[in-house]
Amino acid sequence: MVDPKALLARMTLSEKIGQLNLLAAGEGLATGAGGPTTLGTRLDTGMIGAIFGTKSLASARAMQERALDGSRLAIPLFFAEDVIHGHRTVFPLPVALASSWNMGLIEDTAAFAAAEAAAEGLHQVYAPMIDVTRDPRWGRVAESPGEDPYLAARVAVAMTAGLQGDDPAGPGRVAACLKHFVAYGAPLSGRDYDNASLAWEDLLGLYLPPFEAGLAAGAASVMAAFNAVNKVPMHANGDLIEGWLRGKQGFDGLVVSDYTGVAELTAHGLGSGPAIVARALHAGIDMDMVGESYLAELPELAASGLDAPDCGLCLSAESIVTLIDRACLRVLTFKARLGLLDNPYRGLDGAVPAPDRIKGRALARRAAAQSAVLLKNDGVLPLPAEGRIALIGPFSDDRTNMLGTWAVSADAREVTTLHEAIASRTGVQVTTARGANVVDVPWLADRLNVHGPTVEIDPRDPAQMIAEAVTAARAADVVILAIGEAKEHAGESSSRLMPDIPAPQRRLLAALAETGTPLVVVVFAGRPLALGSATAAADALLYAWHGGTAGPEGVADVLFGDEAPSARLSVSLPAHPGEGPLSYAAETTGRPNRGRFEKFRTGWLDLDDADAAAAFPFGFGLGYGSVRYGAPVLSAPTATGQEGEVTLTVAVTNDGDRATVETVQLYLSDPVARITRPARMLIDFRQVALAPGETASVPFTVTCDQISYPLAPSMDLAQQVWDPGVIQLHVGPNSRDTQMAELTWLA
Ligand code: BGC
Repeated sequence: MVDPKALLARMTLSEKIGQLNLLAAGEGLATGAGGPTTLGTRLDTGMIGAIFGTKSLASARAMQERALDGSRLAIPLFFAEDVIHGHRTVFPLPVALASSWNMGLIEDTAAFAAAEAAAEGLHQVYAPMIDVTRDPRWGRVAESPGEDPYLAARVAVAMTAGLQGDDPAGPGRVAACLKHFVAYGAPLSGRDYDNASLAWEDLLGLYLPPFEAGLAAGAASVMAAFNAVNKVPMHANGDLIEGWLRGKQGFDGLVVSDYTGVAELTAHGLGSGPAIVARALHAGIDMDMVGESYLAELPELAASGLDAPDCGLCLSAESIVTLIDRACLRVLTFKARLGLLDNPYRGLDGAVPAPDRIKGRALARRAAAQSAVLLKNDGVLPLPAEGRIALIGPFSDDRTNMLGTWAVSADAREVTTLHEAIASRTGVQVTTARGANVVDVPWLADRLNVHGPTVEIDPRDPAQMIAEAVTAARAADVVILAIGEAKEHAGESSSRLMPDIPAPQRRLLAALAETGTPLVVVVFAGRPLALGSATAAADALLYAWHGGTAGPEGVADVLFGDEAPSARLSVSLPAHPGEGPLSYAAETTGRPNRGRFEKFRTGWLDLDDADAAAAFPFGFGLGYGSVRYGAPVLSAPTATGQEGEVTLTVAVTNDGDRATVETVQLYLSDPVARITRPARMLIDFRQVALAPGETASVPFTVTCDQISYPLAPSMDLAQQVWDPGVIQLHVGPNSRDTQMAELTWLA
């Protein structure tokens, strides 16, 4: 067994610096300015520690051979990739998967993605992305587990377990990389990369818990976020990286920068090359992705040290060398954990077979069905097996957009379109009409097509397109309208000022609503959209997100009732595109909002009450069954002290005539505390399968941990406070429609 410490002792300073350099293979997506030199030179001179973005086993193997030849001590590379919601087989977007609330399903999708990635020689994936976010404008909500820290923490655990199994070096497994550390989901005004200024209580109670959970589940690596948190850019944030992550959480894995994140510290205003490199290394960034700032600056820093009082850091040459040793040892230890120091070709010898893609596709289809949230159903769904369907809308015959953002290794040709998925059902007759373009503004279409064609503007007269759609609708028994966002509407650097259904599609919807033909609206999107008049106009409304390789087939399964809808929103849908940030868990104020406009109350003057009522809360989603909740029953009216606990039990009955899956959700509020607290917060949930007529009794045990909360300035999640007194528990099918049980927690 090669010992990383013994290996470090044999290395020259230059070799150590080389290990901290992380480069892109140049075969994938570039999201920032690249480094000044070529990959080949780095490989031949041993000045590289890892590569991400290889696109085949053969190319990774060739790079490994070259790296081993170029490195005096034959230190192997490791290979990484953005495997965000699947690798070759693409699963629904993370925000969609989180909406399944099905942790077993999420773990299975991660395990399948890991197996596909491992079979191509990848050792680490840049997932899970666990940035909680409450701003529909932010494009990366698509990649996130949604707005809630408890749900996000559960997703972090499920994803880490699926990717790593018991051992990230095990067959078909890879190392997870929790990202982006931290509060990347709280950028000012929802603009990607913008900074976050927030209360420490928010950081500790909202943004850090998913990381704490992922670390506890054993995640082997972490990626820093681009943004500054409370004035300190995360790539220089020693308090949070060395302090909280390593000091408080005891994390001993690898911390990588984000793409050119170290070099970007200059633009953040932290100074020139040597200063920013010293700060990043000192803060605990072990590897420098793409920017090559470490490579450029560390030799001189190690010789002369840094004397930069203007940026608050003076480090002797010896201290810099010690920091280089620290980072290099972490890189080598990570490689040892991946089994690479003992076998540099581990994962690259073709010994790991790719998983069965037919099974993967079936899993992707089930995941898509279980992620699609049924928001409204006046009885038109499920559709009968026979009838005339008018399938209308710019997404009815689409492949590429179905994959969603960050599907960097996918092949859109593998996607079955919604048209194909519906037309393959014997008994239905389908006519189609495009009806509208996704967008009709050329410069916006150009931006959406920046990584390849995703939307095209049909040159026909928009009125003529709508007229054709109306004719098709009039001749049909039911209309299925496929509208929403293109894949590049969401994702990195895709913040939207107005997160709504784009204007040409809204005009189409209004025209179809007037035909009187029953209207089933299917929304494909990468974020929570304000649905506006779509809610009232639709007879049924299915929020399908971007569902991946088998997304449209999963949607068809739900529409025709082969799968019962069971998803629940992982993010609130806003009443209006200008409403973000928003959350069911918003804090109480002195003048609370009562759900409709009242002067001198928290709320919007120019939001129509009808629109306000059309918003959908976190946790919301319908099934095809009809589920009745009994009154919640507490095991005792009081609980006492730190060790106290109480059980709330609720009976749920399926009154419908179809089997259903109900997600029973438990929320807590603490009406008297030392600081303002969320109006309510999710603390537990349980999914129960109910046959027609079946009743299940669902117990939840509540402990003192769940009523505790962090109080600044303690940076320690383990040191929380709680307030004796009244605690309210709310149980129900979503965050709004709940029943309350009150107890007293005694000191
Ligand atoms: C993104 C990361 C991603 C990295 C490598 C960055 O732009 O923020 O999430 O892992 O690129 O592709």
